[in-house]
Amino acid sequence: MNPAIDVRDLHFEVHGDGEPILLVHGFPLSGRLWDAVARGLGEGYRIIVPDLRGHGRSRATPAATMRDYAEDLAAILDRIGEARPVVLAGMSMGGYVAFEFCRLHPDRVRALVLTNTRAQADGAEAAQGRRDTAARVLREGSAVVAESMTAKLFAPSAPEALRAEWQAAMAATPPEGIVAALLAMAERPDSFATLAALRCPVLVVAGAEDAITPPADSERMRDAARQAVLAVIPGAGHMTAVEQPARFVAVLRSFLDGAVRARG
Ligand code: MLT
Repeated sequence: MNPAIDVRDLHFEVHGDGEPILLVHGFPLSGRLWDAVARGLGEGYRIIVPDLRGHGRSRATPAATMRDYAEDLAAILDRIGEARPVVLAGMSMGGYVAFEFCRLHPDRVRALVLTNTRAQADGAEAAQGRRDTAARVLREGSAVVAESMTAKLFAPSAPEALRAEWQAAMAATPPEGIVAALLAMAERPDSFATLAALRCPVLVVAGAEDAITPPADSERMRDAARQAVLAVIPGAGHMTAVEQPARFVAVLRSFLDGAVRARG
């Protein structure tokens, strides 16, 4: 049993009014990942941006599971009185959390956006690698992960200032939050069956130069879902929402105005 967290210990921001869109960041990032996307979407949506527990300004717990992160999202929606099904967008680990949310609360999801993520679980070697990294973070601190992630997060053309900004943000993530997330990711289940069972529209977004979740992972998700579209964004690595926010917003808007609106 993991330590419970009070919703008041979770940081989240809510902007605008209209169709609810819940934007879930990846590891070991924060809701700031979505700043430019939220600005680009503008008025007309109720945009809800949490920091997952142990990330950004949300309190860490010594352990967590995908279920904990997903139930935290449900608690935030309850807290702000949002009972309508949401457009749920998850980036990378945020996608893993989104799959879990779909398993737990299918009726609360109007449409799913999966960006820079994958549906397959870790293989034995990858899972062990995460456990080894967790042990190293406990010994040496968050900078270890901040450095190794920065090397992989961006397309080669990304500005140095962007890399430096996110390296500092990741280094500021508490070791406890990073360790809990690494172990949760190592334990996460395969989500292809979840994807295949979904009745809602799905948008899959890939960065053409994503070294962590390459476009081939996105093609597999597009093929597994009943009604999915795939957009591969040029000039983006793993951080598509910050590297190419205008292109990301254009793809998201066309999905919201098309497939999602058509469902009424
Ligand atoms: C992320 O960006 O959330 C992580 O890189 C995901 C992962 O390591 O599988």
